[in-house]
Amino acid sequence: MNLTLRVWRQKNADTPGKFVEYRANNISPDMSFLEMLDVVNEELIKRGEEQIAFDHDCREGICGSCGLVINGRAHGPLAATTTCQLHMRTFKDGDTIAVEPWRARPFPVIKDLVVDRNAFDRIIQSGGYISVSTGGAPDGNAIPIPKDDADKAMDAAQCIGCGACVAACKNASAMLFVAAKVSHLSLLPQGKIEQDRRVLNMVTRMDEEGFGNCTNIGSCEAVCPKQITLDNIARMNRLYMEALFKGILS
Ligand code: FES
Repeated sequence: MNLTLRVWRQKNADTPGKFVEYRANNISPDMSFLEMLDVVNEELIKRGEEQIAFDHDCREGICGSCGLVINGRAHGPLAATTTCQLHMRTFKDGDTIAVEPWRARPFPVIKDLVVDRNAFDRIIQSGGYISVSTGGAPDGNAIPIPKDDADKAMDAAQCIGCGACVAACKNASAMLFVAAKVSHLSLLPQGKIEQDRRVLNMVTRMDEEGFGNCTNIGSCEAVCPKQITLDNIARMNRLYMEALFKGILS
């Protein structure tokens, strides 16, 4: 396949960026999108030009490091697929493909296609964990958990924190991400103990980081590579209100 790429190049957060056109020639349809970018970078190195910076780690769809807006859609045209798992056979020979970084104020561009997603880490640090002693695996297995709760918790736990939800949202809302973490922990008995403090702290931190609010558009759910659903946001809002009222009444 021979393709034309329009890639966002930006030196750093303080320098304006721009699209630069590159040719991607002799690309195998079986390459992943990131492997295609590797080929383009090899050509740039041969020509003595600066490589395109992009984030990646596992390249197996599990770490959440990769994340590109491809032809205007976070992670590209395929549903439930991370950028690293998107294959070039999804495109046609001769296509022109636009490649951009996540665009949201809380995710400043570090370079080219790489953005700073530390805001997510700070939200997790504010409460996305269990600090009480939960015992070992046999203790956990001895606690009966309703199948429905276990299924919902495991579905929420699939969130890999890639940030596509933020990139797709017109409000740059991080509520799908935060709701997945809150739901995952609060649906299980071990996570219920710190449930009120967790949801209050994580939502407060999310707001402090500058993420917007959810207005029920649903773009986040549409682009989420792990198919995290909007009902997690409803659950988080419910838990938040409960915690707030308990605080007011106590
Ligand atoms: S590189 Fe790990 S999810 Fe894509």
